[in-house]
Amino acid sequence: MYSKTESTFEFFDSDNTSNKEHKIILVTGGAGFIGSNFIRYLIEKYPNFKIINFDKLTYAGNLNNLTTIEDNANYVLVKGDVANSKDVKTAFEQFNPDYVVHFAAESHVDKSILNPDIFLQTNVLGTQIMLNYSREHKVKKFVQVSTDEVYGSITGDLKATENDPLSPNNPYSASKASADMMLRVAFQTYGQRINVIRACNNFGSYQFPEKLIPVVIGNALRGMDIPIYGDGKNIREWMHVEDHCKAIDLVMQEGVSGEIYNVGTGNKWKNIDLVEYILEKMKIKNDLISYVLDRQGHDMRYSVDSRKIRKELGWKPQIDFEEGLDKVITWYTNHMDWIEEIANGTYISYYDNIYKKRMLETQ
Ligand code: NAD
Ligand code: TYD
Repeated sequence: MYSKTESTFEFFDSDNTSNKEHKIILVTGGAGFIGSNFIRYLIEKYPNFKIINFDKLTYAGNLNNLTTIEDNANYVLVKGDVANSKDVKTAFEQFNPDYVVHFAAESHVDKSILNPDIFLQTNVLGTQIMLNYSREHKVKKFVQVSTDEVYGSITGDLKATENDPLSPNNPYSASKASADMMLRVAFQTYGQRINVIRACNNFGSYQFPEKLIPVVIGNALRGMDIPIYGDGKNIREWMHVEDHCKAIDLVMQEGVSGEIYNVGTGNKWKNIDLVEYILEKMKIKNDLISYVLDRQGHDMRYSVDSRKIRKELGWKPQIDFEEGLDKVITWYTNHMDWIEEIANGTYISYYDNIYKKRMLETQ
């Protein structure tokens, strides 16, 4: 039985319609970067879907990311921890979702090197708990939002295919690879309907300023140093977050159960070249660039072969990189308050200020 003292579960339903007949999508980690973009995308595209955002609201969970849709009648916020069985059980009993799209994770490699434990707890145990309750509640499809980082560093000009072995090199990618293995188990042993999506690096609005592109734009706008790890020659493949959201939606609804889909653009950059390109676009001098000590175990290159999702599901990226980057630079330039609230920590009190007050008012 759910016990309040042992659980962190709380929920806010803007029009108290949790029992209405809708296609119900449980999105975990929906207050983060990709999750919040995905929720906005679903709300706009599918007026008949009900979206449950199940999020622990860690430092990376920012409800300011969802202000444009927070009052939508089809949106429910649930504050809970995927690694806490009681929270997850309560959410499944309350909402009985048709689909689960699992974004919730600790997502930053540098943090994982400093403190791997929470990565295992959330990314591995949390995924297993989500799978357990999805099985019990006969969820139609569980979509695991994994990453190209599970393949490890890719040499030469090769691209990782879905059949390649997993060779993660840091605690973050190892935790994501472990979760992918439990997805395999869910399919092979229990016959659950699942998909795994392994995408390249995303960029876009609402990305937490700990990842490269928002660090570069945010620091440049504030005249702060831009740290380049090592010699800056590491290579990443980049995709606009809205193209990733479309791929996730497609896989959720049309992906063949049990299949893994790589999602990539082929758009690869050395870090230093990308940083210089962004500064050039922003008309800001390169003298903010500051070479710093390299990341431990820094993967040299990520690259995925995404022919499968293109051929089998008809996905292809639609946002041109340069246009996407322009859009993102403009977004951050116009949302300096969003960055400032993160820098001064006030974004963390948003839940207490807005949601708790509204919950009391509706009781
Ligand atoms: P993010 O760090 O911006 O957001 C993570 C979200 O998960 C936050 O809202 C946070 O509060 C929530 N969360 C963390 N621990 C939780 C827990 N125990 N219970 C419930 N919620 C919890 O991450 P992101 O960049 O949006 O990435 C989302 C997913 O996509 C991750 O699984 C990540 O591995 C994957 N991914 C990210 C990228 C990328 O470039 N950012 C690329 C490929 C895959
Ligand atoms: P990041 O955005 O952390 O994504 P990931 O490591 O998961 O791919 O980093 C992207 C690349 O940029 C990676 O090679 C590390 C590098 N990097 C910097 O050089 N400076 C920075 O301040 C950050 C955050 C990353």
